Amino acid sequence: MPDIRVLPSLLSADFSKLAEELQMCEDAGAQALHVDVMDGHFVPNLTLGPFIVKAMRGHCSKWLDVHLMMTHPVQYAQAFRDVGSDAITIHVEAVGPRAMNEAIAAVKATGAKVGLAFNPDTDPTLWFKFMDQVDLVMFMTVYPGFGGQSFIPEVRPFIRKTREAFPELDIQIDGGLNRETIPLVVADGANHLVCGSAFFKDSDKAEFISWAESLELGKT
Ligand code: DX5
Ligand code: ZN
Repeated sequence: MPDIRVLPSLLSADFSKLAEELQMCEDAGAQALHVDVMDGHFVPNLTLGPFIVKAMRGHCSKWLDVHLMMTHPVQYAQAFRDVGSDAITIHVEAVGPRAMNEAIAAVKATGAKVGLAFNPDTDPTLWFKFMDQVDLVMFMTVYPGFGGQSFIPEVRPFIRKTREAFPELDIQIDGGLNRETIPLVVADGANHLVCGSAFFKDSDKAEFISWAESLELGKT
């Protein structure tokens, strides 16, 4: 059974004191951190590029999971790897089925772990044929672009179907996760939990992580 892991999403961090925020996440027990890259085209928002990831890397020894919400993710994969990204996740909607094999190979060639992300209304079963080539899949439970949105429960059957088909795959969820919704997706079989606003607002972040990571996968 894959391990459960909470990945604080730095989108909710205070970027004026990024080094302190990274240290706080480490002190709370986070093994991995989630970094959101938005290009103003694939999603209607802009965030950061490789030079910010480089600055983060200088203050953080944990796993950096980089979520590319970009129309041309492959073009930038090497640049994100060169500054220390451990995993690079690309959206299937951006790449499309015809270019998918090539895109997965290109991200893999950088040396990073490869993830495939799915928008809430994308049926993952159509993409099952690619899933044994990647290290993780990530279901968006909000429409990507902004932190602090509400969890979309209609994605839950997609999580269940994917867990049934791929018992060992890391299944990551991103968007609207909090103390109410985390138990739902863990029951569905998700083991990587990206958490932005709820984590950064929580008064006991270490307890938040240890609570979530002690839930039992596939159990309500
Ligand atoms: C949204 C981003 C998320 C975001 C999640 O497009 O991909 O990673 O930070 O934030 P919350 O947990 O607040 O929904
Ligand atoms: Zn994200």
